Amino acid sequence: TSLRSPSPVPARPPHVVIFPLPAQGHVNTMLRLAELLILRSGGNGLCVTFLNSEQNHRRLLSFTDAADRFSEHPTFRFKTISDGLPPEAPLSKDTILEMMEYLKLTARDVIADVIAPPPTSSSLPPVTCIIVDGALSFVIDLGEDIGVPVFVFRTISACGFWAYFCMPRLVEAGELPIQGEDDKDRLLTSIPAMEGFLRCRDLPTFCQVTDLSDAFFRYIEDQTIRTSQARGLILNTFDALEESMLDQIRPYCPNLYTVGPLNTHLRSIQLSTGSSPVISSGGRSSNSLWKEDRSCLRWLDMQPERSVVYVSFGSITVFKGKELTEFWHGLAASKFRFLWVMRPGSVPDQDEEDDELRAVTRERGCIVEWAPQEEVLAHPAIGGFLTHSGWNSTIESIAAGVPMVCWPYIAEQPTNSRFVSEVWKVGMDMKGSCDRRVIERMVGDLMTGRREELATTAACMAEAAAEAVSQGGSSWDSMNRLIDDIWTMAS
Ligand code: UDX
Repeated sequence: TSLRSPSPVPARPPHVVIFPLPAQGHVNTMLRLAELLILRSGGNGLCVTFLNSEQNHRRLLSFTDAADRFSEHPTFRFKTISDGLPPEAPLSKDTILEMMEYLKLTARDVIADVIAPPPTSSSLPPVTCIIVDGALSFVIDLGEDIGVPVFVFRTISACGFWAYFCMPRLVEAGELPIQGEDDKDRLLTSIPAMEGFLRCRDLPTFCQVTDLSDAFFRYIEDQTIRTSQARGLILNTFDALEESMLDQIRPYCPNLYTVGPLNTHLRSIQLSTGSSPVISSGGRSSNSLWKEDRSCLRWLDMQPERSVVYVSFGSITVFKGKELTEFWHGLAASKFRFLWVMRPGSVPDQDEEDDELRAVTRERGCIVEWAPQEEVLAHPAIGGFLTHSGWNSTIESIAAGVPMVCWPYIAEQPTNSRFVSEVWKVGMDMKGSCDRRVIERMVGDLMTGRREELATTAACMAEAAAEAVSQGGSSWDSMNRLIDDIWTMAS
């Protein structure tokens, strides 16, 4: 059957606490996991407490249908926590580190509060386990102290995780620190299964350090290594895509659950159970922390098939200097239509209005502040994606069969983009360059020059992704195993 009915059913159903890093790409994907756990458990009463920062909670409730959607699940509850940042502080490397350090200090009280025995009148069963974001792996120790098993969920790719996991080897082999900009094209040899194509510039940005005492470097190294102590590691990927990476990770994290792509996994179960009011109205469930501008879908409806480049750089990227202008000129010169997400706060103040660029945009562009990305990627008018290679965007694009041009910005995005171009061959990597001529050329290759070759590979990948989340597929089976393991813990 499509739903899990574990037997024997324990007297009290499990209660899972889900604790994401309070950032869009993390909250979005861990909410998908929460909804999937409930739906795939088949209404057997599995409870979820989702820890959401106060700021993100306000935004989620104002901009999405999340309140209605989750109220349909009586066994789901949000619990809000503080992230320690001033209201509306934009996320950057510094504020993310500040937030992680704050959560490290406060997590003990937060966890103690959620696992406190519920009053006997409460319908809430005791906490069975915690699923914590891998960026907050210190929770594993807290779990050990209080006797609650902890699973780690990494919102990143397996290749990104493996690169982080190999940080100590890179240092031991003398491959890190790097010796400045000129050293970035050096090929690395001490990351198993990435020899021969991974250069210093393809490492996660937090690893590309010239000083090993860098605070972020130390933090990430420590949090990643701790993953081996967790009860299991959950990844938003699928076996056929990242088999060689998963083979490397398994000896260190043997209890590995690959449940992605989570967006299509969730959507297929929502459709089969008719569970979401949003689905019946034709949309998709959104967990956006910005207001989605759905007018771009009507604009897309008017464009020819595969004629539009979708341009979005995720939730953290901020353009520096002339970068925005270079992209704009490159897109204008490419002559293709484009739908561009310019997130508030991502764009520097434009002191000079370029009339020519404005005219091109009126003629064949559409600019929005935030788009319903999953629906955009599924739209027949989309021919390619100019992306920052955030893992959610990458796997959503792979699931939708849309080829990419990658301009990675932060974290493991440079590793994802290298895999997109060199391993999966579903796109091109323009990292390190932000030049209008390169943008024009790569967009041209994406939409015409290499279009058929890339589209064919992308279609095969999308098929493999759909297979993974369908009944009997690898991600489907992994999810069954995760649910069974959680139910066994509650027994
Ligand atoms: C960062 C990291 O780069 C990523 O690898 C990590 O796992 C999470 O944090 P972020 O900049 O948020 O990511 O990008 P991404 O991972 O791609 O997530 C963005 C999410 O926002 C995607 O799910 C995307 O569908 C959604 N989105 C983006 C929208 O819904 N609308 C938009 O207009 C833009």
